[in-house]
This record gives sequence, structure tokens and C-alpha cells, in this order.
Amino acid sequence: MRAATELPHSDLYGGFHVVTRHADLRTAAAQHRIYSSAQGIALPNESRTRHVPAEVDPPLQREFRRLLDPFLTPERISANEAKVRAIASSLLDSLAGESRVEMVARFTEPFPVSAALAIFGFPPPDARRLSGLVDGLIHGRGSEASIKASQELTDYLIEQLKMRAASADPSTDVLAAVAHGSVEGRPLSIEDQVSITRLLLFGGFTTVNLALSQTLLLFAKYPELAEGLRSQPELFPTALEEFVRYASPATYLRRTVVAEAELGGSKLRAGDQVLLCFGAANRDPSVFDKPDEINLARNPNPHVGFGFGAHRCLGSAIAKLELRVALEEILRRYERVELDPDDSIAWGEGETQGLTRLPLVLRPRASA
Ligand code: HEM
Repeated sequence: MRAATELPHSDLYGGFHVVTRHADLRTAAAQHRIYSSAQGIALPNESRTRHVPAEVDPPLQREFRRLLDPFLTPERISANEAKVRAIASSLLDSLAGESRVEMVARFTEPFPVSAALAIFGFPPPDARRLSGLVDGLIHGRGSEASIKASQELTDYLIEQLKMRAASADPSTDVLAAVAHGSVEGRPLSIEDQVSITRLLLFGGFTTVNLALSQTLLLFAKYPELAEGLRSQPELFPTALEEFVRYASPATYLRRTVVAEAELGGSKLRAGDQVLLCFGAANRDPSVFDKPDEINLARNPNPHVGFGFGAHRCLGSAIAKLELRVALEEILRRYERVELDPDDSIAWGEGETQGLTRLPLVLRPRASA
């Protein structure tokens, strides 16, 4: 598709153009006056309340980001490292003595859920209940149980936001800032407050899970990568970007054309849908040397795994903290991880895609 002279087109879901080249994707992601997110970014379109700020266009979207960004800088997020490490440690401790483990269910999926609840300051006793609700939502999409879980989660978040509105100082944490926040001179509606809070929580659940499981699969297939990081931990900053480029957990998202334009050799009209394929752009050989290989020291690495332009990921500092801590703890405990020869891996599909099963054989380090 990247080599085609026009954007490939599908007739599915009302018809959409497929953007796979790195340059075309960056052009579209940067031009929100032509490529709008306000009509939803999922494909197929989902009938639900809009996700804020992901489905709001600038300039309004920038007001939401001005409220949220200061709480999610690498400096502020790094203050959570000890909490996040304790969560990774306790999950890995629970695997002690087991050598064959399905890592998605036992580690890569639950870890970002607990880590996010801790980072966003939800009361620890509520974490178990919330994890249960989230589990129902992730696994039962569209089912009656998941609709019930979704309503229960909304009620819980409203209660938390109201408590923060009544007491907390808006400068202390992001949920207090949301509860006290206003855009365009008006206090945020409770619907927008809930939508933001849900996205802050959910934005990192599946994506971090997928980046982490794919990296563990790489460690199993190419033990020299794990060895390289263990012996040169100073490579972590470039390696984490490379793992996100390679895994591209946010595989694709939609935009709707709102003004005539030309992209990738195709003429686009208002109303056309385009699919931004972050995963394909991240393997574009005109930008990345040996794109299908991992280079722990790749630099520059202009990947679009966290998006590009106004909507670039709000939680990338959280994602990188969680990934680094989880990988450090795994490298500290295990000499090697191997694919379980008696079991098989499984892949999912959709806008966030990656491993759904990763059965590994864990070889502990003598010192650990
Ligand atoms: C490896 C993990 C992650 C990946 C690959 C990822 C990827 C992305 C991408 C590609 C976008 C751009 C969406 C667009 O252009 O429409 C985005 C936006 C966003 N992400 Fe992440 N994300 C990750 C982790 C997180 C985490 C941990 C959070 C939690 C705060 C988060 C919250 C958000 C939010 C709120 C947005 C919307 C920003 C806006 O529209 O202004 N993400 N993410």
C-alpha cells in the first residue's frame, strides 16, 4: 500500500482512504482544519459520547490540553516511579516459583491498570473494584455486562470528581484540575469531566499492555536485545521509543475530511474518511533504516507511535515510565524469557492491535 501512487481505498464502513506513508500521515495529522477528529476517530464509527480531548478539534482541544498537560510532564510523572515499581514487583512476585506463565493475563494486562489507578490517585481500596469493572469493559465490549460495568464506572467517576470539586486544591492533581476546570470561560460539564477522566485511565491500558507484551516477545525471540539493555541501561531512552515504533499499539485511527484536499496522489472531498495507519508509517523504509528490525540506539527516531500534531499522546510520559519500570524489573529477575514450545501466542485485531496471549518460559537469574 505504501508503494501505491494513490491512497488505497476501501468501500467498507462508508468508505475510507488508507494513509500508510509516514510523510502523508504527518501531513494529515498536522492539518486539523482539513482532517477533523470531531466526527469520531474510531473505524467503524461508534455511537457513544465523544472522547475528550481526542475527538475535539483545535482551538477548543488546545484549551483542554492547557488544563491537562502540566500534570503529565515527564518531571511530574517521574514522582510516581516508586509506586509504579511496587506494583510491577508485587505482580512479578506473585509469579515466583512458576516457570510457564501466560504473561498477558498475569502481567502485561493488569500492570498498566493498577499503575494508572495509583498514578491518578484513586483510593487504593477502590483499585480492586475498578480493575474488575475495567476488565469487564475491555473483555466484554458491547455485551450487557460491559454496558452495566460502564455505567457503574461512570457513577463512580462522578462521585470521585464531585469529591475533588468540593475539597481538593486544583493544583494538586489532574482529577482535581478537571473537577475545577473551565474551558472557554465556562466550567467543564460533568459529561466532559467524566470523558476526560475515562480517557486518562483507558488511554494507557491496552496500549501499554500491547507495547510491553510485544517487547517481551522480542526478548524471547532475540535474547541479545534483553542482554543489550541489561548491559547498557543508558540505552533505555532510545530503546523505549524503538519498542513503541515497532509495536505501534495504536495501529490506526480515523479522521474526517472537512475541506477539499490532495493527499498521497488522491483528491479528497469533504465527508471522506481517512484512516491514519500509525503502524504502517512506523515501518516506512523511506524514513527508517531496516524498519522491521529493532535498533536499541535508533536516533533520530521520528516515529508516530504516539501520534503527531495537536493530538499527540497526552500520556506518553506515563507510558514510558510504566514500560521502563516493567522491563527493568523483568531484566532484574529473569536471565532469559523463552516462548513456551508447548503453547502458542495469539494476536488480536482492530485499532489497538497486538498480542492477546504470550505464553513464556521464565528462567530466573541466580542472583534474583
Ligand atoms: C505505549 C502507550 C501509548 C500509545 C502507543 C499511545 C498512542 C496514542 C496516539 C497514537 C494518540 C493520538 C491520537 C490521535 O491522533 O487521534 C494518543 C492520544 C492520547 N493518549 Fe495515548 N498512547 C499511549 C499511552 C497513553 C497513556 C498511558 C495515556 C494516559 C494518560 C494516554 C492518553 C492519551 C490521550 C488522553 C490522548 C488524546 C490526546 C488529544 O487528543 O489531545 N495514552 N495516544
